[in-house]
Amino acid sequence: MKKNKILIAPSILSADFSRLESEIKTAEKAKADMLHVDVMDGHFVPNISIGPAVVAAIRKRTNLPLDVHLMISDPEFFLEPFIRAGSNIITVHIETCSKGLLKKIKRRLSQSRVRFGISLNPATPLKKVIPVLDLADMILLMSVHPGFGGQSFIKTVLPKIKDLRALYDKDIEVDGGITDKTAPRVIKSGANILVAGSYVFGKKNRTKAIEKLRYGL
Ligand code: DX5
Ligand code: ZN
Repeated sequence: MKKNKILIAPSILSADFSRLESEIKTAEKAKADMLHVDVMDGHFVPNISIGPAVVAAIRKRTNLPLDVHLMISDPEFFLEPFIRAGSNIITVHIETCSKGLLKKIKRRLSQSRVRFGISLNPATPLKKVIPVLDLADMILLMSVHPGFGGQSFIKTVLPKIKDLRALYDKDIEVDGGITDKTAPRVIKSGANILVAGSYVFGKKNRTKAIEKLRYGL
């Protein structure tokens, strides 16, 4: 992944599922860098979204990297289907995994050249991820409580981003409540990948929306 450039990952959770292909095409045209796919199991989070079959269907329709965010209690059980579906990045939550399991997942993803992300809920302290930082290609810091799009940004993530950036030079992704108001602060704190669902898919002009997030224009 290119350094310095801010990457924008629209979350299809806020897209119109009844016309997912054309929604994805608008994100492509708007120069999205990847597509963020929120997977929820109704157990780790109080919502159910999409599964491997939908990821596989999306894979057939776009060449954008698929950034698959597993908000599920048993990521090990579902790892193979999401690899087979064509995910490029798979992120699991640290709240659901022991260090041993993270190592196992890392090994399996490396075999298929899938990048590995580790995510933290807003309430999970940074110190929890420090012992496993070297396993991850990316750390995803949640800036809302996972489960739903369209929530307000939780500001306490800003010092967390800053503290993480001081000890981690790989990708830092921030997810939840990203808008033209919050994006500049998130970038300034040290994040380089921004997930945005309702902000991008809620706008008619998605090119402009993505430019605003990326460049603060
Ligand atoms: C929340 C998801 C987010 C969500 C972001 O559980 O992980 O990716 O789609 O949506 P917005 O950008 O609307 O906060
Ligand atoms: Zn997400």
